[in-house]
Amino acid sequence: MTDLQDVIDAIDTLKPIPPVATQILVLAEDINSSLTEIADLILHDPTITANVLRMCNSAYFGLARKVESVQDAVALLGLDRIIELVLMDSLSDNFIDEHQGYGLGEGELWRHSVLSAHVAQTLVNHHGISSNKHLVFTAALVKDIGKLILGRYVAFSLEKINILVDSRGYSFNEAEKEVIGMNHEELGALMAKKWRFGEKLIYIIQNHHLSDESARVDTETVLVYLADIVCMMMGMSTGVDGLAYRFYSDVLKRMQLTENDLQQVIVETSEKRGKIESLLNLV
Ligand SMILES: [Fe+2]
Repeated sequence: MTDLQDVIDAIDTLKPIPPVATQILVLAEDINSSLTEIADLILHDPTITANVLRMCNSAYFGLARKVESVQDAVALLGLDRIIELVLMDSLSDNFIDEHQGYGLGEGELWRHSVLSAHVAQTLVNHHGISSNKHLVFTAALVKDIGKLILGRYVAFSLEKINILVDSRGYSFNEAEKEVIGMNHEELGALMAKKWRFGEKLIYIIQNHHLSDESARVDTETVLVYLADIVCMMMGMSTGVDGLAYRFYSDVLKRMQLTENDLQQVIVETSEKRGKIESLLNLV
């Protein structure tokens, strides 16, 4: 089995997340935080401010007038888009590399993450699910951060992992745990703690495949789980682990959703997919 301390130490090899981005993640978790607070935070980091303004003024958003300030940007585009742009700016360097262990080429993990955040947003908006929607969006975006490190170890152990998945009925994350000693949910939660993400965000990262039964009644965690499942069903930049996770159909009933609703989300996301993917070129 792998030396887990080596895995944990490897977190420090990633490019650190700017403190402003971490604070934005914490604010996004708090349903009472205001757009002004978020804008004020962004203003404390001139590089992020400049990049957010550049991205807002790109042809992608096609805004009728020039966005001159972060306050303007937040008001015009909404909090989720701003969180997405700030995180794209701060995290994409880490995400964009190829993640060989998972069979993900350059940019694919980030594309999957962005698409699943949009799927989560569609689920919340179109089905009127009462939840902290900014948290759901953000959590869907960062749920797989553990893969940034674990991919290196999965690459060495893929044969053993595949045997457990193909012949012994393990899900991919159960096999990661058995072979490496830790799965990408646990490692992701450790990274999130180290980077001082908020508590609920850490919880969702740790439980986004719903391995722990108690997470199956947590609305935000279930939404992130379903968004991931929808992306896998659509084959959206999923790697060797695509569809090798458990499907807990009972959570649909609990969320008052049907399989038809998921189909509907798939149709809506397919229609928007080109537009969402072109957002990735803004970085
Ligand atoms: Fe995952």
